[in-house]
Amino acid sequence: MLGISGSLRQESFNTRLLHASEGLAPIGMDIDVYEHLADIPPYNGDIDGENVPPVVEAFRDQVRAADGLLIATPEYNYSIPGVLKNAIDWLSTGDGGQLLAGKPVAIMGAAPTNFGSVRAQLALRQVFVWTDSKPVVKPEVIVFNAHERFDDDKLVDEGTQDLVRRLLHALAAKVTEG
Ligand code: FNR
Repeated sequence: MLGISGSLRQESFNTRLLHASEGLAPIGMDIDVYEHLADIPPYNGDIDGENVPPVVEAFRDQVRAADGLLIATPEYNYSIPGVLKNAIDWLSTGDGGQLLAGKPVAIMGAAPTNFGSVRAQLALRQVFVWTDSKPVVKPEVIVFNAHERFDDDKLVDEGTQDLVRRLLHALAAKVTEG
């Protein structure tokens, strides 16, 4: 699986959640966390097609090769962080608009606030309608009060660990159902 964090922050709860997921995945599932989101240029239809930037080509290759995506995102101003939306825009036009079609996608999100990430998660689900992807519907993983669930880099909250485990099993099932 390719893990994508919607936050560029070094201390990001969402990036930490993704790394914690690596240790919670079912046997046989590897999670690689994408590390170049900050390098993806703004989407521009004039350079899409013939002049796609190498970093975008490489990103598309990684997504093409992955069985599925695991996205962990914060909510910025009640919606998807721009950097994440921009990256998905580049993916969505790949392979004649089919790059994300049928791709299993699991979504989760963390925030130190009470409802943080819920609205971004809902907005992301809308995006994956247009792309014909296969989002996992349940369980919903909404890591509110995230600051209470981590001890430095380690996800210590057992309830959250269990939810993430269930999400990853559901993602594996989406991959298997084809
Ligand atoms: C936020 N934050 C935030 N939180 C929330 O619950 N609802 C929101 O709409 C927003 N909006 C928002 C906009 C911007 C520009 C920033 C920088 C932050 C707070 C956010 O949840 C918090 O900073 C998280 O810790 C960000 O996630 P990472 O970076 O820890 O993964």
